[in-house]
Amino acid sequence: MHRLDLNVRMDSALNAAVVAPTDPSAPQAASPAHAAPVLAIVVPTFRERDNVAELVRRLDATLGGIPWEVVFVDDDSPDGTADAVRELGRSDPRVRCLHRIGRRGLSSACVEGVLATSAQTIAVMDADLQHDETILPEMLRAIRERGVDIAVGSRYVAGGGIGEWDQGRARISRLATRISRVVVPERLADPMSGFFMVRRDVFMESVRSLSTLGFKILVDLFASSPRALSFVEVPYRFRERHAGESKLDGRVAWDFGMLLLDKMVGRWVPVRFLSFAMIGGLGVIVHMGALTVLFRTGLSGFGTGQAIASAVAMVFNFLLNNALTYRDAKLKGAAKVRGLLVFMLVCGLGAVANVGVADWLFSEQRQGWVVAALAGILVGAVWNYTTSSFYTWGRRGR
Ligand code: GDD
Ligand code: MN
Repeated sequence: MHRLDLNVRMDSALNAAVVAPTDPSAPQAASPAHAAPVLAIVVPTFRERDNVAELVRRLDATLGGIPWEVVFVDDDSPDGTADAVRELGRSDPRVRCLHRIGRRGLSSACVEGVLATSAQTIAVMDADLQHDETILPEMLRAIRERGVDIAVGSRYVAGGGIGEWDQGRARISRLATRISRVVVPERLADPMSGFFMVRRDVFMESVRSLSTLGFKILVDLFASSPRALSFVEVPYRFRERHAGESKLDGRVAWDFGMLLLDKMVGRWVPVRFLSFAMIGGLGVIVHMGALTVLFRTGLSGFGTGQAIASAVAMVFNFLLNNALTYRDAKLKGAAKVRGLLVFMLVCGLGAVANVGVADWLFSEQRQGWVVAALAGILVGAVWNYTTSSFYTWGRRGR
């Protein structure tokens, strides 16, 4: 029995309401609030409570006539940004909230926001009103009428500008732009922009190859695309932050380095492993430093010195990996203490494996001492990396 037949038997008032949505030939709901969004604006947020209402107000003022929705992707901001967004959503269904818990990261927030909307054209923009929303209609025309893949809000083409930035930040931005050339097209003047619009099909072509590391989702998109993307740059002047504070810090530079590395060698080696291994290398230096202080000065014997130096290096490695390698799954409070203990246990086993493998290769397999030692280090490092990413920072670690 068809649903339509059932509907026909109902009383006429109800009938009208029930039949309409199930009958494909019936006209679509005309109310603008119910029109399917043509454009979605994805806005990553962390501590932006005092900006969201103003942003929605400005989007509304600028996008008159275009059916749109805005998806705020909030990483459980302690200032209650997600609550503020849901509050707006209760009176305006175009305002949506994607609330992530136990996660951090601008790029991954953007990706999940794009995946959460059904709009065919998606803009990514910051919540703090630094990006000029009045260029959105022009970006949309470029994509929908001229068929370009990506429209970039650009500070570095004629008519655009970086506003009130100080010399230092301006220089860093220009330097990062130059470095990014290894993975993005030469002609793109502002690859570091956090403000752009893209067609869904273009995004979907790359979504599984994205690194989603750090802040630079546009660089990621260009570098991950299986083909050369067409783009236009629409100038705008970068504005002052409306309320709150910037989340840009030194770690963003580290993340950017990791993103570039991932685009260059990620096919062969996971970039997290490289990060882990580099920090491990620093740990060796810390170990030797501690040992020098303890043993060479006569503060302790060699065995005790080694034990203390190992512990110091492990704590150092744990803290740095927690802040950088696993920044997106950063442990805090009690979980951090537990994580440290698990990490030390795992790395202790790693050290045993390292020595065991090296010893076996050297004495049983008659390998040279350098080869044996390096192989031991490699086995230990891979062990430490895989087990600690699972037990310390993985789902089991939380
Ligand atoms: N969900 C989520 N998670 N959002 C975040 C996170 C995070 O971990 N970190 C930052 N955000 C959000 C902020 O709330 C803001 O809406 C946006 O990402 C940009 O963060 P800002 O802290 O304002 O960065 P910025 O102004 O220094 O730099 C921005 O502009 C540059 C120029 O366009 C970024 O978009 C840069 O990528 C961009 O180069
Ligand atoms: Mn900002």
